[in-house]
Amino acid sequence: MTTTIETASMRHLDRLTEIEVECFGKEAFTRKQIASLLTDYNSISLVAKEDGKIAGFVIGMVSIETDSPIGHILTLDVSPQYRRKRIGLRLLQEIERIFSKKGVGTCYLEAREDNLQALNLYEKTGYKRIGRLKNYYGDAHGIHLRKDFPVSKTPEQEG
Ligand SMILES: CC(C)(COP(=O)(O)OP(=O)(O)OC[C@H]1O[C@@H](n2cnc3c(N)ncnc32)[C@H](O)[C@@H]1OP(=O)(O)O)[C@@H](O)C(=O)NCCC(=O)NCCS
Repeated sequence: MTTTIETASMRHLDRLTEIEVECFGKEAFTRKQIASLLTDYNSISLVAKEDGKIAGFVIGMVSIETDSPIGHILTLDVSPQYRRKRIGLRLLQEIERIFSKKGVGTCYLEAREDNLQALNLYEKTGYKRIGRLKNYYGDAHGIHLRKDFPVSKTPEQEG
């Protein structure tokens, strides 16, 4: 099987909405919310394809409110039949690479306190727990995570 990562777009909206519901059920972003994220100027959206079929996706946002841009991963989803094949890991690494190229040095995300698969993935890749988010998911609590990574500079920036 060949996994490829490419930029997500509105033409993927139906499948992304389907996978988001498979992954998060009642807590899933709606189709409208996903459409709005896909078309947001500051978002980065990637799909992973296995033999040409969409297996997962990630959407993150770059916030430019501060001097140094901040990254925020809003959703990371791998369709159940494609799990444990390193697709989540690859999507995470690729969005971080793009964040880094955009000057982002810190990335934040949230995960449910009981979402061990996600917490394992994030902690394994260097995210640190920075707080507990009480009732962040309705009845369930969240964990706030942060990762700092080296910013890759363009040749122009390096002078
Ligand atoms: C979390 C998720 C994205 C992981 O995707 P994946 O492609 O199956 O994960 P990978 O194959 O890349 O696994 C990478 C690492 O994550 C951890 N991990 C993934 N699935 C796991 C599981 N079921 N149990 C324990 N650890 C798990 C492991 O550390 C794994 O490394 P290993 O295979 O060397 O043990 C996927 O399970 C998913 O979409 N879950 C539902 C949506 C979700 O929770 N998203 C994150 C929201 S914050």
